[in-house]
Amino acid sequence: MSKQARLGILLSGRGSNFLAIQQAIERGDLDARIVVVLSNRERAPGIAKARELGIDAVVVGHRGKDRRSQELELEQILKSHRVDWVCLAGYMRLLSSAFIDEFRGRVLNIHPSLLPAFPGLNAQKQAWEYGVKVSGCTVHLVDAGMDSGPIVGQRIVEVDESASAEHLSARILAEEHLLYPVALKALIQREWRIEGRRVVFLPSES
Ligand code: GRF
Repeated sequence: MSKQARLGILLSGRGSNFLAIQQAIERGDLDARIVVVLSNRERAPGIAKARELGIDAVVVGHRGKDRRSQELELEQILKSHRVDWVCLAGYMRLLSSAFIDEFRGRVLNIHPSLLPAFPGLNAQKQAWEYGVKVSGCTVHLVDAGMDSGPIVGQRIVEVDESASAEHLSARILAEEHLLYPVALKALIQREWRIEGRRVVFLPSES
């Protein structure tokens, strides 16, 4: 049996995707353990939730530091917790390729649009205002660009034209909570390789 995957979560806010991953673990749907939650924001609600759950939670502020020195602090904590995967869950800072390489490219992110459409901030509002008929969410491996790494998985949401951008965001968020644990599980349990930009899963043995 393969060893249980050790996850480090990076977040800056609410933390609902972190909780969705934790709940999938508690249900037995994902054989992993969240060993540390990190944030650049002391007041991130996700940090408080991690502490309530008894998960190690550490704030590494970014103000007054250059990017790399803040990242080196994050790296040190993630390594001391021996993480196998770094999961960005609403972490609002770009990471350098030096950071990503430190974790052998095992850095994941979730984004609330069907990438490559609408990278960056307020993706749901961008999609709504553009007038797309379908949107959704994407889990991808992280590279040094903005929401630009190879795609691991996506889920689709049909846009209800009579509703609002907020309503679309809420429906996308519900899909995010389903997608992130499933994408993680596939990466952890299945064999896969990168071909160009493509994450290719090899057929599962049955
Ligand atoms: C999500 O919409 C995620 O796609 C984006 O940031 C938001 C984080 O929400 N990257 P939460 O903190 O997980 O609730």
